[in-house]
Amino acid sequence: MTLIGSAPGKVILFGEHAVVYGQPAIAVPVHSRRAVARARPAPPGAGLRIVAANLAQTICLSDDHPLALILRLTLDALDADPPDLTLVLSSTIPIAGGLGSGAAVSAALARALSAALGAPLPDERLNTLVYEVEKVHHGTPSGIDNTVVVYGQPVYFVRGQAPQRFTIGAPFTLAIADTGIAGPTRVAVGDVRRLHGRAPERWDRVFAEIGAVVEAARAHIAAGETGALGPLMNRNHALLQTLTVSCPALDALVDAARAAGAPGAKLSGGGRGGNMIALAEGTDHGALEAALRRAGAVRVLFTTVEQIGPER
Ligand code: PMV
Repeated sequence: MTLIGSAPGKVILFGEHAVVYGQPAIAVPVHSRRAVARARPAPPGAGLRIVAANLAQTICLSDDHPLALILRLTLDALDADPPDLTLVLSSTIPIAGGLGSGAAVSAALARALSAALGAPLPDERLNTLVYEVEKVHHGTPSGIDNTVVVYGQPVYFVRGQAPQRFTIGAPFTLAIADTGIAGPTRVAVGDVRRLHGRAPERWDRVFAEIGAVVEAARAHIAAGETGALGPLMNRNHALLQTLTVSCPALDALVDAARAAGAPGAKLSGGGRGGNMIALAEGTDHGALEAALRRAGAVRVLFTTVEQIGPER
């Protein structure tokens, strides 16, 4: 029997960077892009290993690799010995694009392994394990990425607090455009930390303004007032620009989206590369995609943000 674990990609809608300093942020899963792990029994003595289909790579339990780490954490959490098992991993989430690829593959692997051991991990437990792996990728992550990926639900997140789900009053569509520049989240977070260290009061005010944008956005999303989100996205992007985490490639995509009729656009995630999101409501998707590609996007996908059931 093959047991399957999976997890979706994600985008941060509002509040990145300020979330590291205690402000709220909201993020949503991207269910059309997923990591999937299939657990297949292996011959006695074969041990536990991952075959990563996309990377044409085999990873063993003892390897110094983030994917091996999630297996070790899962076995420790379940107090289990390594089974003879092959976990075949595949993913349609772009790597290093700020869409939560690292967290999603970890979650998928831990789900498949724990299911194969007959003890599926509850989401809360799984979330703490995936957070440990995120620390290896990002240094001092807020925890928002692993939370939205593990729960597979829209998440209102405040660092150190239990995540809250929030209501999507009416579905809305986003364009997600990739600059093709691997967004160095760790570097951007470090630069913001230095900026903050030099003038904490000034930057705390900017973080608080971002927090206010997040609160307003959450209320409008819950009320199904999608039209109000565009200006809030634009305001959030301007505040992220003052934090120095945008870059010419992201600004070009934001400008192109707005010129093509998107009511709002902003960078999403760590910045300095990675992805831009634009509200695609009321726009011609083909024309918006063409404009984004002309402005340098290497990949454009559309995702509908809506309320759906919990992950399994
Ligand atoms: O680059 P991403 O999509 O992993 O997002 C990082 C979000 C930050 O707020 C910049 C950092 C964090 O840990 O929350």
